[in-house]
Amino acid sequence: MAIREIIEIPDPRLKVVSDVVTVFDDSLKTLVADMFETMYDAPGIGLAAIQVGVPLRVLVIDLQPDDEGAEPVACDHDGHHHHHQPTKREPRVFINPELIDPSEEHAVYNEGCLSVPEIYAEVERPARIRARWQDIEGKQHEETIDGLLATCLQHEMDHLEGVLFIDHLSRLKRQMALKKLQKLRQAA
Ligand code: NI
Repeated sequence: MAIREIIEIPDPRLKVVSDVVTVFDDSLKTLVADMFETMYDAPGIGLAAIQVGVPLRVLVIDLQPDDEGAEPVACDHDGHHHHHQPTKREPRVFINPELIDPSEEHAVYNEGCLSVPEIYAEVERPARIRARWQDIEGKQHEETIDGLLATCLQHEMDHLEGVLFIDHLSRLKRQMALKKLQKLRQAA
């Protein structure tokens, strides 16, 4: 396993539409293992393959990182600092995910993204979805998902279409966020 470099805006690869996975081989397993290691190291709760520069429809999510000693920093997707007790990891892999039945009811979360560092903003998404995906062996799964996992999965699925959470903001809010990021980078 290896930690891979997470690409950040304005890297043009973040706008790429990722390809469907058709081969479930050892290189896919290596990619997924590397993505988990990279996500836990960041730390984050979700990561799409394109964020490490691989344009494949592969997502990893773990809402319960057992960050040893580390501050329970929220994540890719949620600016709130969760006061998680140390918990067991719950790694989940979603390959070729599809959103089937988004609820009309919406939920708002304060989202962030490892490719848009230090920026958080509230995004409204369907609160509950039916999702279909394949696992690392290519087996099909289908499940109704709600709560933070629903938000996280939708955020990660956006990456597969080249969409970032800031693309859901109004133009003014997006410009403010990008300006803030620019200032933070200049100060670094
Ligand atoms: Ni993200």
